[in-house]
Amino acid sequence: MANENKWGSNIAFVLAMIGSAVGLGNIWRYPYVLYSNGGGAFYIPYLLAIISLAIPFLILEYGVGYNYQSSFTKAIVKLKPKFEFYGWILPVVVFIMTVYYSTIIGWDGIYLFLSFFKGWGADPNTYLNVNLLQATDSLSGAFNFIPFIAVFMLVGWFIVWLISHKNLDEGLGRVCEIFVPLLFVVMLFIVIFSLTLPGASIGLSELFNPDWSLLWHFDIWMAAFGQIFFSLSLGMGAGFTYASYTNDDIDLISSGLKVIFANCAFENFAALGVFSILGYMSLQSGTPVSEIVSQGTTLIFVAYPQVFNILGTIGLVLGPLFFFTVYIAGITSMLSSFEVLSISIQNKFALSRRKATLILCIIGGLASMVYATSAGGYILGIADIFVNNIVVILSVFVECILFAWIFKAERLIDFMNGRSKHFKLGKWWLAHVKYIIPILLLVIWFGGLYELIALKTTDAVIVLIVLALILIISSLIFTLLPAKTKEWFKTEERIK
Ligand code: PFF
Repeated sequence: MANENKWGSNIAFVLAMIGSAVGLGNIWRYPYVLYSNGGGAFYIPYLLAIISLAIPFLILEYGVGYNYQSSFTKAIVKLKPKFEFYGWILPVVVFIMTVYYSTIIGWDGIYLFLSFFKGWGADPNTYLNVNLLQATDSLSGAFNFIPFIAVFMLVGWFIVWLISHKNLDEGLGRVCEIFVPLLFVVMLFIVIFSLTLPGASIGLSELFNPDWSLLWHFDIWMAAFGQIFFSLSLGMGAGFTYASYTNDDIDLISSGLKVIFANCAFENFAALGVFSILGYMSLQSGTPVSEIVSQGTTLIFVAYPQVFNILGTIGLVLGPLFFFTVYIAGITSMLSSFEVLSISIQNKFALSRRKATLILCIIGGLASMVYATSAGGYILGIADIFVNNIVVILSVFVECILFAWIFKAERLIDFMNGRSKHFKLGKWWLAHVKYIIPILLLVIWFGGLYELIALKTTDAVIVLIVLALILIISSLIFTLLPAKTKEWFKTEERIK
């Protein structure tokens, strides 16, 4: 039998990592972030975030994951047994993210279905907010359950179970080998088509028109670092986990660079498509692009359906293709964030992959039902800030200190350089992982607190407290429950 938890090839690893990185963050979030943070000027903080944060940190995460060949939590137990509680915090918070991520995948599933007959009608805005989401901007709608949304969310969880309960290479590996290249091909088609639409140049000049003055604003730097974090699934255990499944001969430096390049190329390419389409729409409707463009949800679930309406029959082809692309991008990312907690509980409680994935998909599916209510969108916004601005950044800070200082990043250098033909790690890399990145993380963390403090309403505070309790209590339970296998305390290291 093939090894339950090993990639069949190094390419499978790289494609799975690209599948993890390329997700809703690239199509749903990035075009808007780029546009609203200075357009062309955004590239300065964006590139700096890639160079100073993404490249050095991803390599560190891969290296340590490779070394321990185990879940994030098991590795932490080996590295510093007293830190087990922390070792659960990260997987659990990533699972909380997976649950709300599944909501947007569910919405996208609905739009994929509707796109075959333009079921959103002549007014997509009313359809989304009034008919479909029945959105409220407080907790008052939490008891208004919407079965239609629930069904599509559960379909997403079912697909995740279908893929991840199989042995790694037969499930995740194979799916990524087929669907990740397909994602790029379909996106290429959509973007080329969009660029040929009349008015595309209006959208593009609006997108790239640089507003240099914004470079002096802290917000755009925060936005760039936040985007790079989320988009590359940095520090969230996905890279760690996937790297732990690699074969001995993997070149982790080049793999990391390929993943970063593919992800960033994809999101910028997607932005070209999105803004060409918005330019086309602006030309048709006489509305300026700045009025059409809006944050993620509305952009892809309102502006896009409006464009597909104008496009007539072509919209019936382009619509399903577009929502299908978003769907694959979302599922391959969700698979990776799901894997982080799944492998940790497999390791500690001696559960088979089949059992662990079934249990977690049931829990995740049930928990996600909170988002299938009128208050779903509202709770999602707060959960996103809680996860991304607060917990993840702080736990990545701890991760960076543990890996760079306690594990000792120096240990990775000879091994990594021995595998890599073109790129070598040296003092600059050590300086980044030991000093620059921890400092950057603290700055980003304090910046993120501002956004949290701005959410002063009682309802928001209730949601935050509930999320914090879920996080702390479940991490505590996982820590206190005794391990079901002695293997939990035996972790082989690959790098001597
Ligand atoms: N990188 C994904 C995106 O851009 O949508 C989000 C993500 C997936 C973050 C998996 C973290 C993770 F573990």
